[in-house]
Amino acid sequence: MQYVKLGWSGVKVSQFCLGTWYLPRLDSVDEFGVRRVDVDTAVKVMRKAYDEGVNCIDTANRYHGAMAPVDLNHVGNAERVVGQFLKTVDRESVVLATKVRGQMAPWPNGEGLSRKHIRWQIRESLKRLGTSYVDLYQIHWPDPDTPKIETLRALNELIEWGLVNYIGESNHPAHDIVEFMELAERHNLEPFTTMQEIYNILVRDIERDKIPVAKRYGMAILAYSPLAQGVLTGKYVDFNNRKWSTPSDSRAVISSGLQGYFNDRNLRVLLELNEIAKSKGATLSQVSLAWLIGMQERLGVTIIPIIGVTRMEQLEDNLGSLNVKLSQDDFNRIEEALKAQ
Ligand SMILES: NC(=O)c1ccc[n+]([C@@H]2O[C@H](COP(=O)([O-])OP(=O)(O)OC[C@H]3O[C@@H](n4cnc5c(N)ncnc54)[C@H](OP(=O)(O)O)[C@@H]3O)[C@@H](O)[C@H]2O)c1
Repeated sequence: MQYVKLGWSGVKVSQFCLGTWYLPRLDSVDEFGVRRVDVDTAVKVMRKAYDEGVNCIDTANRYHGAMAPVDLNHVGNAERVVGQFLKTVDRESVVLATKVRGQMAPWPNGEGLSRKHIRWQIRESLKRLGTSYVDLYQIHWPDPDTPKIETLRALNELIEWGLVNYIGESNHPAHDIVEFMELAERHNLEPFTTMQEIYNILVRDIERDKIPVAKRYGMAILAYSPLAQGVLTGKYVDFNNRKWSTPSDSRAVISSGLQGYFNDRNLRVLLELNEIAKSKGATLSQVSLAWLIGMQERLGVTIIPIIGVTRMEQLEDNLGSLNVKLSQDDFNRIEEALKAQ
């Protein structure tokens, strides 16, 4: 495992971060009919990743671990599971990232990026995580009701109070990020260190607008859904019959968020990726993650894929991508497959 700098800061994080949006799940359901998280396996997976050198873990106050979107009965669960993992290691050896913004309670200030909500939620996150500080506190998505300067000042206070080391954004339009960074400069406040955005072979929108912003301000990119929620592992393709199919134990069975991936272009790209993977004796997941790692050099920006796994074998498979290197010809083949009509 190699370590990279978290944007302009001095803190070092592993090439991969481990995500906790979805965690290993049990077949049984709770009193609300929701799949239970397999806490024991989840902690073992986090521990295995840690033992393999992954020092960075990403969560959010909203995450449950086996459902999305999350209802108010289940918010906070993933942070509690991360808290269980943190008890097994030295807290100081981990770079811990969480997020704020989503709805955590039914009342008017139960969500958002106001000073009131942020001050409340950092206290709640720290309790759930069982720690006294978070390394990276990220605003999960925009709150059009709160002035940006209020949010930025509230986040800066958390830094001054020692509750947070660095701050980052997620899912904001490029012009909003620029506005935040300019406000920070103008008011002598701490700017964002990171942006957390969807980025994978099939979804490359950030190359157009956000990557130039990240480069301009020295921000690192935490790439979420690096395997397109599992689509880039090839698990949704019947390669013999060259068509989509859904395995019964996959995320698509419990989430509707993957449907948009199942189109002709993506099928064509996956068939090509499969050929590349076979030629290298690698898995499709490994080729897809190696592509992300390789894009850093090509784009001149730090990209840290946040991998999500529901089984130990998936973690081992994905970490194996660190031994896979794509040639320029492989990159060209992927570009051609993406462009072909
Ligand atoms: N900021 C945001 O708004 C935002 C949004 C989304 C995610 N995130 C962060 O990014 C992290 C990763 O996102 P993601 O979970 O969508 O990532 P992903 O890597 O694209 O998808 C992970 C899923 O793919 C399947 N999978 C992974 N490796 C596999 C392998 N080797 N073989 C077969 N299946 C495999 C598993 O699902 P199944 O086993 O269930 O099929 C796994 O849960 C999240 O945990 C979260 O921390 C942030």
